Amino acid sequence: MSTPSAEVLGELLDRARQAASEAAELLMHPPADLRVESKSTPTDAVTIMDKRSEALLVSLLLDGRESDGILGEEGSDRPGTSGFRWVIDPIDGTVNYLYGLPGWSVSVGLEYEGRPVVGVVAVPTYGVTYFGTSGLGSFRERGGQAEQISPSEVSELAMALTATGFGYASERRAFQAEVLQTMLPEIRDIRRAGSAAVDICWVADGSVDAFYEKGLNPWDFAAAAVIAAEAGVTLAGLDGREPNPDLTIAANPTLFAKFHDRLKSLGADRAV
Ligand code: IPD
Ligand code: CA
Repeated sequence: MSTPSAEVLGELLDRARQAASEAAELLMHPPADLRVESKSTPTDAVTIMDKRSEALLVSLLLDGRESDGILGEEGSDRPGTSGFRWVIDPIDGTVNYLYGLPGWSVSVGLEYEGRPVVGVVAVPTYGVTYFGTSGLGSFRERGGQAEQISPSEVSELAMALTATGFGYASERRAFQAEVLQTMLPEIRDIRRAGSAAVDICWVADGSVDAFYEKGLNPWDFAAAAVIAAEAGVTLAGLDGREPNPDLTIAANPTLFAKFHDRLKSLGADRAV
């Protein structure tokens, strides 16, 4: 399998950063009426700004690159012929956005022949952008300064500050609560911040020690997967599977093994 050169990846990273930054800027100025609709359940919201952000990202990312594929949470789904596919979440953390809470993000991932190669997660309410490129490291940019990131060295479950999230369907949330009821006394604490993409970047820069969640979609982790991998984080499902909707876990390799085994023993990937 061929790999795009560092020069090509660098150009694509610049394109992804520019697009994420323009979408983030757009989202920082919401209209008075967000025109909220619901999707899979009444609590699974989409606003006019999710749609506007996705339209802007699609036009910027594909400008002059019409042979790339694209997959977006709000409906973009087009195969390409170049081997590249953009996987985007125009707002990850729509509920935070709706409530005026910080921490939502714009997530722009790029795959080459199915493998994640570039990722950008912009979190404008925190003034931070995370980015990573396959083979070239991952970084956190704040105030125009970018620094390379790495995860924490916490190796015990009992000391692991753990980010997680919950789905939109009631039955799934009940199951997630069951798993959490067992996990919570065994870990340091949890954080439910509202954007899975940010949660995974927080593992990558050591802001939390671990993350797990059931029910993620490809656009929730496509960008963060590159950032995590390049920082030295293991991001995977159970039994060596790629991150997937049944279960996604992220942590440094030692801690990952412990989360993996405990969550497996609880059947946390059960179809619900
Ligand atoms: C959601 C967020 C949330 C996670 C949910 C996702 P959305 O994405 O990432 O943190 O717990 O599973 O669906 O709907 O805000 O794009
Ligand atoms: Ca979204």
